[in-house]
Amino acid sequence: MNVTRIQDPGGAPDLPTSLTGIKPTGHPHLGNYYGAIRPALELAKTYRSMYFVADGHALTSLKNAEQFAEYSRSVAATWIAAGLDPARTLLYRQSDVPETYELAWILSCFTAKGLMNRAHAYKAAREKNRQAGVADEDLGVNMGLFSYPVLMAADILLMRTDVVPVGRDQMQHVEYASDIAKSYNSQFGSTYALLEPRALVDDSAALNTVPGTDGRKMSKSLHNTIPLFASPGEVAALIARIRTDSTPVEAPKNPDDSALFRLVEIVADPEAARDLGDRLRAGGTGWGEVKKALTAALLETLAPLRERYDALVAPGSELDDMLAHGAMRARERALPVLEGVRTAVGFPRGRKL
Ligand code: ADP
Ligand code: TRP
Repeated sequence: MNVTRIQDPGGAPDLPTSLTGIKPTGHPHLGNYYGAIRPALELAKTYRSMYFVADGHALTSLKNAEQFAEYSRSVAATWIAAGLDPARTLLYRQSDVPETYELAWILSCFTAKGLMNRAHAYKAAREKNRQAGVADEDLGVNMGLFSYPVLMAADILLMRTDVVPVGRDQMQHVEYASDIAKSYNSQFGSTYALLEPRALVDDSAALNTVPGTDGRKMSKSLHNTIPLFASPGEVAALIARIRTDSTPVEAPKNPDDSALFRLVEIVADPEAARDLGDRLRAGGTGWGEVKKALTAALLETLAPLRERYDALVAPGSELDDMLAHGAMRARERALPVLEGVRTAVGFPRGRKL
């Protein structure tokens, strides 16, 4: 097969690539941190890694320029505060890599409309409208939301990605990226082939669903989050609000049924969590004490990250330069891929300004 090989702009060519994005639709929360950011940073030790702020995806729902800028910087700063090393991992904003949007259009011409009809995000929005008694496609269903998985496929395929670490909810979208690559490859793969990615979902960690303050999955859209860098007072207040049953302090309790204790298991060190679990089962320990323990463990874990985060989100910090540099390197990687696809479909080669 006559497959054009791209030049890789940095690092060892034999390392497989890991890529993931987070939408800046709010300040990152514990679910994002334990479910997405930490596992992705673990992968960065053994993969060539590219992590980005998916601002194009956020625009499907967030229409407020100030919040948009604030959340985008907050997501980027969180990646770095959580330990991303910009010398090792490409960090960029999707909208700084315009090749993404060009590839998205081309890919949309290889995507069956029926596939998009079945996409989770679109189906969920229609269902929400139906329940609210408005026409299915009226509220919040713009074309961006409808073709959301095509843009996500462009993010992934543009960077020649092997694995995409995501939570369970995003698996379908990664499968779509692979389906779209197959559809393109079946026509043009002999001229220039796209790499078919696969999702990497960490089941073993059971971190896939970090519970929110109401016991459901923590999610910005459910307004039940504990933002990572809320002030210590706010963190304590949010934790105090977590619903627990009314078993008296002295009664034995089952920690395995409790979202509050689940959070302790995720945040605190394993030995401390086990000890607290034993004390709950034995009786004599109240939920109030568990809340205090969770607050203390969380603030202690986040204290070193918070300092770095605060410095990075301050206006005029080094963050903007870091993102500009990341985008430049990402574009270097993207350009030959886009050129390969453009050539394959018959667009002119070697485009100039
Ligand atoms: P949200 O649901 O708050 O809008 P996103 O959809 O932006 O979160 O998620 C970004 C990443 O964080 C995804 O990989 C997603 O799987 C992960 N994630 C989000 N919420 C949780 C959660 N409660 N538990 C585990 N992972 C989560
Ligand atoms: N759709 C993802 C989410 O809501 C964010 C995202 C956009 C993404 N592009 C991506 C994740 C590419 C992985 C790869 O969480």
